[in-house]
Amino acid sequence: MIVAVVGKGGVGKTTIAALILRRLIECGETPVLAIDADPSNCLGHALGIAAGPTLADMREELRNGTGRPPSMSSSEWFALQAEEAMVENAGFDLLTMGRPEGKGCYCYVNNLIRDHLDRLARSYRHVLVDCEAGLEHLSRRTSGRADVLVCVANRSRMAAETVRRSLDLYRDMHDGPPPRADLVLNQCEAGQAGISSAPFRHVLEVPQDPQIAEFDSTGASLLSLHAPSPAVAALASWEVRG
Ligand SMILES: Nc1ncnc2c1ncn2[C@@H]1O[C@H](COP(=O)(O)OP(=O)(O)O)[C@@H](O)[C@H]1O
Ligand SMILES: [Mg+2]
Repeated sequence: MIVAVVGKGGVGKTTIAALILRRLIECGETPVLAIDADPSNCLGHALGIAAGPTLADMREELRNGTGRPPSMSSSEWFALQAEEAMVENAGFDLLTMGRPEGKGCYCYVNNLIRDHLDRLARSYRHVLVDCEAGLEHLSRRTSGRADVLVCVANRSRMAAETVRRSLDLYRDMHDGPPPRADLVLNQCEAGQAGISSAPFRHVLEVPQDPQIAEFDSTGASLLSLHAPSPAVAALASWEVRG
């Protein structure tokens, strides 16, 4: 499955992505390729992983043409470089996309990245993407369509609006709704979110969890949240099969 976690900034996407990763690992649904596609690079932090080089750094080098041995094609060289951006862990690898492109044309380099991600994704059981607020990179950077769209909202009206827009964008991009969309109501209950559960396969309520706040401040990995954790308990009902 390709699982994409979407929603307005600050709503809890990265937290929920980390909890879904944890659930996949606990269910033996490994290996997982976790992609941090939010330029603020927080998934690594939520997983207690130190920041390393990003794909964007590699792209810059590729665009400048520095470092590539003449005997290597651009795509071979990129694949080799991208290995360095991959952080390997028990059950999952983490790839950080990095900041969005600057000025100038990146079409050629972006196509290399997309092809590389497509090839890479085949060696994993699941791909989990912590998305930036927009969905654009789903079409631009990874050609694969998400099998599961996990929409995160809270009690803010703008968060509900962002979820609606993400679903519309997906429909426009793919000429139809996602095969499966789930709604995660973070730090709130169904009645408070101002969003209809109609288009969603599963609706989960994830309560405020004091341990998450504590781990956030110490930089400890959300994969090591311990019982009783109301947020981990809430994710236990997240369906791991498409
Ligand atoms: N269920 C929760 N309980 C406690 N704190 C939470 C919960 N969900 C998110 N947070 C906190 O809220 C902040 C924003 O969450 P984050 O996952 O980074 O949002 P996003 O990725 O959408 O920007 C973080 O400090 C995170 O620790
Ligand atoms: Mg985030």
